[in-house]
Amino acid sequence: MSYKPLDTNKTYLVTGAAGFVGYYLSKQLLEQGCRVIGVDNINDYYDVNLKHTRLESLDPFEKFTFIKEDISNKDALENIFIEHKPQIVVNLAAQAGVRYSIENPDAYIQSNMIGFYNILEACRHYPVDHLVYASSSSVYGANKKVPFEESDFVDNPVSLYASTKKSNELMAHTYSHLYDIPATGLRFFTVYGPMGRPDMAYFGFTDKFFAGEPIKIFNNGDFENDLYRDFTYIDDIVIGIERLLSNEPGKEEGAPHKVFNIGNNSPEKLMTFIHSLETALSNALGQKIEFIKEYEPIKPGDVPATYASTEQLQKAVGFKPETTIQAGLQRFADWYVKYYEKKITVK
Ligand SMILES: NC(=O)c1ccc[n+]([C@@H]2O[C@H](COP(=O)([O-])OP(=O)(O)OC[C@H]3O[C@@H](n4cnc5c(N)ncnc54)[C@H](O)[C@@H]3O)[C@@H](O)[C@H]2O)c1
Repeated sequence: MSYKPLDTNKTYLVTGAAGFVGYYLSKQLLEQGCRVIGVDNINDYYDVNLKHTRLESLDPFEKFTFIKEDISNKDALENIFIEHKPQIVVNLAAQAGVRYSIENPDAYIQSNMIGFYNILEACRHYPVDHLVYASSSSVYGANKKVPFEESDFVDNPVSLYASTKKSNELMAHTYSHLYDIPATGLRFFTVYGPMGRPDMAYFGFTDKFFAGEPIKIFNNGDFENDLYRDFTYIDDIVIGIERLLSNEPGKEEGAPHKVFNIGNNSPEKLMTFIHSLETALSNALGQKIEFIKEYEPIKPGDVPATYASTEQLQKAVGFKPETTIQAGLQRFADWYVKYYEKKITVK
């Protein structure tokens, strides 16, 4: 394995730059002296203050340009490509979340299908050196064989969100094949960390704790046969993406396109994760705390274990995520307590 270091002379277009992953990636690129064009529609799927806080932290970088735009607006996106001539495009803008796709399917079609199609069209007409885009571990649906490998059969998605991500992989493959666009798709496995997404469980549990409310745990309360999940710390995701940016994707069935898992390859019991979060919050607050826990039946369709095989990624760029959940959750808890100015108010 050998990988090319980041080319700091190129212009990087990062969509979803006000989002969790997009913000950290933009910051990393800017800190190394790259020019970054950040695009985001700053939608209100979750607290927009968090998106503004992230953007404020990118503001001081001279080489950062932020454009409030929707990637589903084809003309506007084309103008961004004409004006800024990005050489590397990282598409992270999307409607995320599995459950919300039942409530608001339109948002997924608009951003993930039309928006992604517009990105591909722009890369076709204004050629780029590399397009990297976010897929998701949700493409593995209810697959039972672990670890999940990129070569596994993933034609049975169980949510519209997963369908859009799998569709993105197919669309990218076709565009890559037809127009020779070097492209890499990344299947992220539950990314967490400071300034993360409030719609995710670890964030929601923390909100509930400070609201004095119980958390619901869907594991039958059976800790011996608990569910296992893969959690990936944000810094690991950023290193993984960064290493891929300057590297030609592998050839796959006649197209310069490849899909990688980016996960921890080290599944944790759900209860270990929850106890680690309690410990992290106790440390951050300087006092031992415990969640009020309500155990619920395992949800239909939930599989006992999900985790990534990271062999392909390791082979390609010599890196695999390794941050422990204890270390990662401590950084999240410290940030949360400081950002929301939390003090212990439990009896
Ligand atoms: N965080 C995870 O655990 C995880 C897991 C699997 C896949 N992913 C994927 O990774 C990517 C980044 O996820 P994230 O956690 O940073 O999510 P996020 O919601 O924090 O970031 C996405 C950003 O994109 C913006 N956006 C949405 N639709 C847009 C549109 N049409 N035009 C312009 N901007 C738009 C949103 O305002 C948001 O700021 C997404 O594609 C997501 O589906 C994330």
